[in-house]
Parts: sequence; structure tokens; C-alpha cells
Amino acid sequence: MNTETEKKIDELLSKMTVREKIGQLTQYSTNPREEGRIREMLRKGELGGFLCGTGCFNGDEEAAERNREYVNSLQREAVEGSRLGIPVIFGKDVIHGHNTVYPLPLALSATFNPELVEECYDLTAKEAANDGIMWSFAPMIDVSRDPRWGRCVEGIGEDPYLGEQMAAAVVRGFQGPTVEGLREHGNIAACAKHYICYGAAEGGRDYHKAEVSDYTLRNTYLPPFRGAVKAGVRTVMSSFNEISGQPVTSSRYLLTELLKDELGFDGFVVSDDRAVGQLQRQGVAANGEDAASLALNAGLDMDMDSMVYLDNLEKAVERGRVKEETLNEAVRRVLRVKFELGLFENPWATYVPTDREHDSAVARRAAGESMVLLKNEGGILPLKKGCDFTLMGDFYTEKLEQIGVWSSDFELDRVKSMEDGIKEVSPNTRVWRTDSTHSTVNANPAKGNDIVVVALGEGNLLEGEASSIASLELTEDQALTIRNARKFGKKVIGVLFYGRPMALEPVEHLFDAIIYAWHCGSETGTALADILFGDVNPSGRLPMTLPRVTGQVPIYYNLPSTCRPVDEYYGKEALLENYRDEFGTPMYPFGYGLSYTTFEYSFLRAKKSSLTMDEINSGAKFEIAVKVKNTGKVGGKECAQCYVRDVLASMTRPVKELKGFSKVYIEPGEEKEIVFTLGKDELSFYHADRVFAPESGKFTVYVGRDCYASDSIEIEIL
Ligand code: BGC
Repeated sequence: MNTETEKKIDELLSKMTVREKIGQLTQYSTNPREEGRIREMLRKGELGGFLCGTGCFNGDEEAAERNREYVNSLQREAVEGSRLGIPVIFGKDVIHGHNTVYPLPLALSATFNPELVEECYDLTAKEAANDGIMWSFAPMIDVSRDPRWGRCVEGIGEDPYLGEQMAAAVVRGFQGPTVEGLREHGNIAACAKHYICYGAAEGGRDYHKAEVSDYTLRNTYLPPFRGAVKAGVRTVMSSFNEISGQPVTSSRYLLTELLKDELGFDGFVVSDDRAVGQLQRQGVAANGEDAASLALNAGLDMDMDSMVYLDNLEKAVERGRVKEETLNEAVRRVLRVKFELGLFENPWATYVPTDREHDSAVARRAAGESMVLLKNEGGILPLKKGCDFTLMGDFYTEKLEQIGVWSSDFELDRVKSMEDGIKEVSPNTRVWRTDSTHSTVNANPAKGNDIVVVALGEGNLLEGEASSIASLELTEDQALTIRNARKFGKKVIGVLFYGRPMALEPVEHLFDAIIYAWHCGSETGTALADILFGDVNPSGRLPMTLPRVTGQVPIYYNLPSTCRPVDEYYGKEALLENYRDEFGTPMYPFGYGLSYTTFEYSFLRAKKSSLTMDEINSGAKFEIAVKVKNTGKVGGKECAQCYVRDVLASMTRPVKELKGFSKVYIEPGEEKEIVFTLGKDELSFYHADRVFAPESGKFTVYVGRDCYASDSIEIEIL
């Protein structure tokens, strides 16, 4: 914390009325229908921030300029028209790109490449800042093991460690590497959301309760938030859900004791949209005053959109239900972030040109690294440039759906469909489109080619908030298309554009090759063509298990060992199956993804196989080295993964937990050494007494291509 800033905050606080303080804790939409009221509130110091501060310009420069003027005119009311001149902060859901759209967050997780993800968010922040946005409501870092939940597409997948790395990458991308740099144009405040266990909603039903123990909350759902806090995230959004009878919005334990006191988060907490007022619906607040007092006393600093703070907190302070120190502490946190953003010196929206060509190139790279090659029998991929194919399915020319949910400022003209991509990468390829959904094949497939490409997908309306689905199997029409494709007697390549894991068992055997292409934003089509024609060697890995059928959900790799089967039900060699009517194994496991080349792992070793607890506590780390050789004919990126099992512990521990990954490019015939480091952070867990520490004893370390990695060694903390 910067003492100069804290002094300035003290000075301001000493001049502020209770109403002005509450104003700083109030966020509202920039609704043009209420413009008069909003401007008046700004002049009275009754608004601290805006939600969705800008419009949607789709590349229209003049409209963007008018928007900047509008944003600045609102800011002027606060800065020049109010008694204390405190600037407002403009926030927006800038989730996976702004004008340039990057892959959906879940797809970005599949890159297993935090540096690339950081780059995407750095560029996103620059575009957003040009529209006057100072704060993004991202990253969404809810661990989720239920693909039915529509919002799993916005998140980081099923794994706490991967989530922790991705959370930190997004925060650094938005905010820059240091809090001191936050004031530079093009850096904006990030918001880690939705804290916490929103992804554990029962049955994948949005907003529903989560029944999660403190042990699981800390060991599974907390790590991404810990990663964000360590990376200096300036804001955190509390989640809508309750956890075992306690709404997060009013949980002092979660918001103050755990997040602020224990993790040391010194930015501010904003509620989710209207969630403070909704404490009444959750049945723990009788009226607005109750709701406001509960939330503020719990440590929820800013009320998003419900106006419950502004309408009720004065009374609550007067009646002693909320202490003025509590109010001051919340205001301090909001002002701190405003100072850090440099808003007191320069609150104005300004334009700094971006390099669209460069941004598109990064988007193409990110999309290419997101897509996962699930299957490639007989090595039918990559295709030869110029080859013809027959096409089925309705996602070939699709652009809008490739944008994915939570994009509002995209430039549609810059979005490349699969058709655009193929024309660019393999201009001589002729595509023979054929009707796909009739019960009989009624079109003549292209003569002289022996490939059918089936391009299918899910629409954006089936993904995101309040968009859960009950069935993860493809629709009957889609399954029919695939069955019809098979009837041609040619090789069938599936290109599947889904934001979430789908249950592919009923159709998987009908494909010779499958590319899981997600919704990858502006460069979906080009990135896909790069992979189809071999300009890019696929390196994406699944950040979430693909189930065989919906009934297996939740299915995730890092579950604890049970009394029987001892080892794992997810594993390939499980002795006991969980279901009489279905395999225990997933369709495709976590961390999985093929390449056009082959990699051989060898010489796995620990440079030192034991360390004392004192050494570990003072920062010593195990170094786990492995050699990876590209044994194929083309260069490619390999994502080596390191999993750990705590063999004997005071609590049951997962049979395997990802604790390191490294993506490296290796030329054909070349061998590289990869070193993972395992120290206190990687070997610790939260015990029953909430202490985060390692326990002495043996750990098995597995290294390989995915969570089925079986090459292992032992290390020991003495
Ligand atoms: C969502 C948040 C989002 C907020 C503001 C809520 O409904 O849950 O993720 O940031 O709206 O748009």
C-alpha cells in the first residue's frame, strides 16, 4: 500500500458526508433513459461507478468518438460538477476481447499458455481503454466441473492449478505487471469473479446453491482467486450463490476473513448485478436496510446496480447498524483503486491507435493454440493444400456464433468464418456442400475427393449466464448429419464449435478425425484452416473433461481416492466401474490433445529426491526434469504436464493434481529438457484446521502428455 495515497484518502474521507461516502459505493448503469437523473446524481456525488459504461460500435470510429465524448461528459459532471470532484470509474464486461475477439475463456484455458493469454488481455485492455473503459469484469475464474452450467464457457475449466495460472495471466494482461503501472493508458483494472463456488451450482443450474465444505472450497475453488490476488487484482466480484445456507453477498467469513484478511486482498469487492437487493429474495434480509447492512458489514464494498446502498445505508449508519468506520473502510478501498488508476490526474477517455493487424495475428495464434485435436485416425489430418472436400453441417459460413458469449463491441467485418479461413489458407480447395439433415443423403458428394468435413456447433444462446442445458449430447439433427456423412463411405472429419464439453459418445466412433474448435472469436476460421491444412500443428489441451454421456457429470480427473476402487474411477484401468450401463472413463480426459507429430518422454528424474520440511519452508524446491523428444516429422508445441499425488496425508487427497505444465516448441528429431519446480505452494493443501501447509512424507510425481501420465518418480519431504 502506498502511504501517500492513503494520506490523500484520509483527507478526502475527512471532507466527505455520509451520503457522499455511500455514493462512492454505488454503481449504476449508464441508461440513456435516466440520463437526467444520473447527471444529477453525479453532481451530488452519489455515484462511484458505472456498469456497461459504453456502447457497441463495431469498428465505427465516429460512433466511438461520440461515445468518448459522452463518457467524458458524464465524467465531467463528477470531476467538475460535484463538491469534491471525485472521478467515477467506468466498468464493463470485457470478457475475451473487445473489438478484436479472442477465444472464449474456456478455450483460452485450453492453450495451456499463460504468456499468450496475458498478451491477448493486454491487447484487449488497450482497445477497451480507447472506449473509456477503466475496469473489466473479468477474469471469470470459477472452477467448474459441470458442463451443463452455461457459464463454464466463461471460466477456466475444472482444474484449480490451471485456473490459478490463467487467473494471474489475465490480471497481468489487463492491469500490467505492477500496480504502479496501472495508471498508464491501456491498462485497466481487472475483476476476479465470481467469488466463490458459483461454478459448483447444484445440477449446473445457474444461480443455484452450492453445497461445498470449507475443505473443498479452499482446495478446489479458492486457488484461482489466490492467483488473481497474488497477481495484484484490484477488484473482486462476489457471486450470486449461497454456500450451505450462507449467501456469499452477506458472508463476512468469505469476503472479509478469507479474502481480505487471509489472502491480503486490498482492492475492493463489488457485488454481482443487483445481488445486494436480492438478499431479500434469498430470504436473509427483510428489507433494503437489512440487505445493505448485511452486505456492507460482510465486507462487500460496492453495490452493483441495486441502489440498495444509496437508498438505505444512511439510515443504517444513523441507527448504528453499520459503523462509520466500516463505511470508511469500504470507501477507502474504492478510492484506492481510483488513485491507482490515476483517475484523479487523468480521468478522461482518450484514443491511442492500436495495430489491428498485429492484434488479429495474436488472435489467430491464440485460436490456433486453443483448438484441440481429439482424434486423427490414420493421420488423415492435416489435409493437403488444394484438396477438395464435401461439406456438411451449418457452421461453415457462421461468423456471429464464433464470437461466443459476452462480446458486445466486436467488429463483425473482421470475423473470419471457416469458409473465409479456407479460402485464405487453401485458395484452390473446392468445397462441395451437401444437404445434411434429411434422413437420406440426397446430394451427390464431390467426385474426386475422399473427405467429408462436418462443421457443427452450438449457438451462443445456449451458453453463458442463465443458459444451462440439461443434455450434453448433440441434437438429433446434428447426430443425423454425422450419420449421413458416414454414408458416403469417405473419411469423416468433425469440426466441433462448442463452448463447453459435449458428451460425444453416441457419435464419436463415426468420425475419423475431430477438431474441438470451441468459439474462437475473430480468427476462428483462419486458425481452423491453419490446423486443417497443417500450417499450425495443434497444441491445445482439454481444460475440462469431455464426458461420454451427460449422466457421468460431474466427472473430473482430480478426485480423491476412495475406499474402493482404491485408485481411480476416471482412470483407464479402473477395476470397478461406477455405472453398470456406462464406462467409468471419460470420452477424453483432462489435459488431452493430439499433435501432428509424436513426442517421447524419457529420463524423468528429481535432481534431489528428498528435502527436509525446514528446507521446503524456507523456499527450497524439488526440481523435476524430463527429456522430451519430437520423434515425428514436423515441428510442434508439446505441453508437458506434471501431476502430484500426496501419498499419505491427514486428509484424503486427489489421486493426481496438476502442479506444473510447460509448453515448448520442439523441432523434429530435437530433444529438450523441461524442468518443473515443486515447492511449498505446490505441495501444500488446506488442512482441516484451514492451515495451508505441506505434510511430510512421500509424493508421487507423474509427468506426461495429459492426466493419464504414468511415468513417475517419488520425492519425499523429510
Ligand atoms: C453477471 C456478471 C456480470 C454482471 C454485469 C451479472 O449478471 O453475473 O458476470 O459481470 O452481470 O454485467
